[in-house]
Amino acid sequence: MTTYDIALIGFGGVNRTLAELIAARGEALNSELGFGLRVVAITDLRLGSLVRPEGVDLPLALNLAGSETFAEHGGSADTNNESVIRTCTADIICEATFTNPDDGEPAVSHVRWALESGKSVCTTNKGPVALRGAELTSLAEQNGVHFEFEGAVMSGTPVIRLAKKMFAGLKLNAFEGILNGTSNYVLGRMEAGLDFEAAIQEAQALGYAEANPAADIEGYDVQLKVLILANELLEAGIELKDVQRKGISTVTREDLRKASQEGRRWKLVGSARRNPDGTVTAGVAPTALPLDHGLAGISGATNAASFDTDLLGPVTVSGPGAGRVETAYALLSDIIAMHAAKAGAAAHV
Ligand SMILES: NC(=O)c1ccc[n+]([C@@H]2O[C@H](COP(=O)([O-])OP(=O)(O)OC[C@H]3O[C@@H](n4cnc5c(N)ncnc54)[C@H](OP(=O)(O)O)[C@@H]3O)[C@@H](O)[C@H]2O)c1
Repeated sequence: MTTYDIALIGFGGVNRTLAELIAARGEALNSELGFGLRVVAITDLRLGSLVRPEGVDLPLALNLAGSETFAEHGGSADTNNESVIRTCTADIICEATFTNPDDGEPAVSHVRWALESGKSVCTTNKGPVALRGAELTSLAEQNGVHFEFEGAVMSGTPVIRLAKKMFAGLKLNAFEGILNGTSNYVLGRMEAGLDFEAAIQEAQALGYAEANPAADIEGYDVQLKVLILANELLEAGIELKDVQRKGISTVTREDLRKASQEGRRWKLVGSARRNPDGTVTAGVAPTALPLDHGLAGISGATNAASFDTDLLGPVTVSGPGAGRVETAYALLSDIIAMHAAKAGAAAHV
């Protein structure tokens, strides 16, 4: 039985849930997936770092009292990310610190240190994937390790792997997606009669929207996701500035009412299309979709992506685009993909 040693960088909602999953279902995962997982290091800004080559005591790490840190349990009060990532015994680094849309740091450095030291990486963090995806993928290849990031676009709903692996033999020319649950929820509630501010407040009360909802409402979050999908699936070779962005704050209740009379529904659509000359046009904009469009019926905080293929026409997948458990599953699915690749490589020797 293979056991992968993993290090968790950032111990917030997502990595904590992955640790809970391993603590609660470790044995079952072994028998279902054919490999075991052992956490050998955790670092977190508030909690500090804990390195245990023999395996971290997960119930202890998960149940620290209010102000306790790892320093009280044989760890360090410092995060020491570079040293922990480079020197720990992990095979795989799970990067789940905050998303920085400006330069992707410190996550870009976390990923780079891991790949340089021969460790595979899975991350749910859009920053390094959107802003440095090509460079980090090439660094992984040079070092013979993996860089996986399924959770960066639609959380546990496997859009990237679906399009890369299951569309073999098809030509993918374009995609359109509802890639932000908060803005979709707000538009739906405005359609039901709430005004913009009330709809945002409701989304905040339900935990969908951040205290500062701009990233969701003004399309910045979708812009990063479109950039990832365009570069990964359409080989666009574009940068953030090439993805046009417009959010939903300009959509009024009158726009929604008029659209409804015309058999249309407003959605915040992120899209990219390959042009006849090979270039790719990508953007995010509120769009009044006809009701028979594959994305028009996607309601609430659900996400969906519709892929335009040559032989099947549009293929649409919908599912959760956020959530701690769903996103922790994305990390697990990345590790499963790494394991499958390793098993496939061994079979060819
Ligand atoms: N939750 C979701 O539904 C979801 C869905 C898709 C993608 N994602 C992405 O997944 C990532 C993690 O999300 P999350 O919900 O787990 O966020 P979170 O709850 O805010 O957790 C992030 C953790 O990382 C820690 N951290 C920040 N900088 C660090 C550093 N330099 N070194 C070590 N730890 C550091 C934070 O510590 P402090 O709290 O002390 O700052 C926090 O504990 C984010 O990039 C997010 O955008 C999340």
